[in-house]
Amino acid sequence: MNNIIAFAGSNSSKSINKQLATYAASLVKDVKITILDLNDFELPIFGVDLEKEIGIPENAKKFLDYINNSDGIILSLAEHNGAYATVFKNIFDWMSREEQKIFMGKPMLLMAASPGGRGGASVLAIAKDRFPRHNADIVATFSLPNFKENFNEGKVINASLNSELEEAVGTFQQAVLKNELKTTEDQ
Ligand SMILES: Cc1cc2nc3c(=O)[nH]c(=O)nc-3n(C[C@H](O)[C@H](O)[C@H](O)COP(=O)(O)O)c2cc1C
Repeated sequence: MNNIIAFAGSNSSKSINKQLATYAASLVKDVKITILDLNDFELPIFGVDLEKEIGIPENAKKFLDYINNSDGIILSLAEHNGAYATVFKNIFDWMSREEQKIFMGKPMLLMAASPGGRGGASVLAIAKDRFPRHNADIVATFSLPNFKENFNEGKVINASLNSELEEAVGTFQQAVLKNELKTTEDQ
């Protein structure tokens, strides 16, 4: 069975992006889902001097292992001041020092949610431009604006946004399956 990881680019205990990533993962059929939380991968703030002193911390390597052992990635990014939340940028920087191709060509459903009307459009644009340079295979994207109005009890309650998300999840699911078939043929 395929193994999907889902996580948020946030360390908030009530993260709206974690809620969205968890919901999106629940829509993927016949896969094993592992929900990850960046709070479980605590890391010091990246710096080249610290890196020289301590090397790459285990938690950065552990997260890379989760990516490597997965068949697909669902990621929903929090937007802070128009960019990645610090906790995400930090683990991103650490991981990139161990493995430049962080995302290892795994199919990715890339999302962002925000309480405001832009749905994390700025951070989504940054990630869409940058992640492919780290071997991300972004097969679908989804943006959820006005979180409080559009999400309730673990689900997207706006019908048109929910069908948009279902379509994105469907595209992601197909890409995961295609990857599985390709891997089997290569063996
Ligand atoms: C420091 C800070 C900066 C923020 N900047 C933005 C922003 O640029 N755009 C935006 O849509 N929301 C911004 N927000 C609101 C976040 O989108 C909101 O806190 C959201 O819940 C973050 O996602 P999370 O709950 O998954 O952590 C900001 C919040 C904080 C704390």
